[in-house]
Amino acid sequence: MIFTVAIDGPAAAGKGTISRAVAARFGFAHLDTGALYRAVGVKGGDPVAAARDLTPEDLARDDLRTLAAGQAASKVAVIPEVRQALLDFQRRFARREGGAVLDGRDIGTVICPAAEVKLFVTASPEVRAHRRWLEVGGDAAQVLAEVRERDERDMNRADAPLRPAEDATRLDTSDLSIEEATARAIALVAARL
Ligand code: C5P
Repeated sequence: MIFTVAIDGPAAAGKGTISRAVAARFGFAHLDTGALYRAVGVKGGDPVAAARDLTPEDLARDDLRTLAAGQAASKVAVIPEVRQALLDFQRRFARREGGAVLDGRDIGTVICPAAEVKLFVTASPEVRAHRRWLEVGGDAAQVLAEVRERDERDMNRADAPLRPAEDATRLDTSDLSIEEATARAIALVAARL
């Protein structure tokens, strides 16, 4: 069976948690596409070459979840050649046998416009910054500033900006528990399977 679930949204909206839960529930493979951009960002050197030569070791680095890696990712993500270099891998993953969940910024709009399910997950910047701060610690005001800066860059870039696909279902997780948010996503997928 070929079945793609596209989950997009801004940083720390809950995409990762929801994607892992959906993948586990239906036995689908999961690709965190942000990790691709993070790996390119932290690798250094020429980002286009880094994107073309990305290795499994690059994706297994333990510094990929840091704030610095998130910022570095959103800077290389504005480069069209970087996005192009990562496109085929993501599309092939999406159409693999057995079903796939991809989370990112442009899955429903660019990578898989024909995805069977499209979800756009949001939450207020304050809620998202608080969640990220629980993960990474440090100065809460700085975490909020970095979340806003990354939103700004991701939404305003020319190539594949962050925006909901017209046919995406919106899910605002600001006032939802993890269980409620994942239950809604799972119900949506179950209804279309
Ligand atoms: O989702 P995550 O916070 O790991 O993504 C890091 C950065 O990678 C994002 O801020 C965004 O700039 C970029 N990204 C992207 N397209 C995707 C996934 C991530 O541009 N599909």
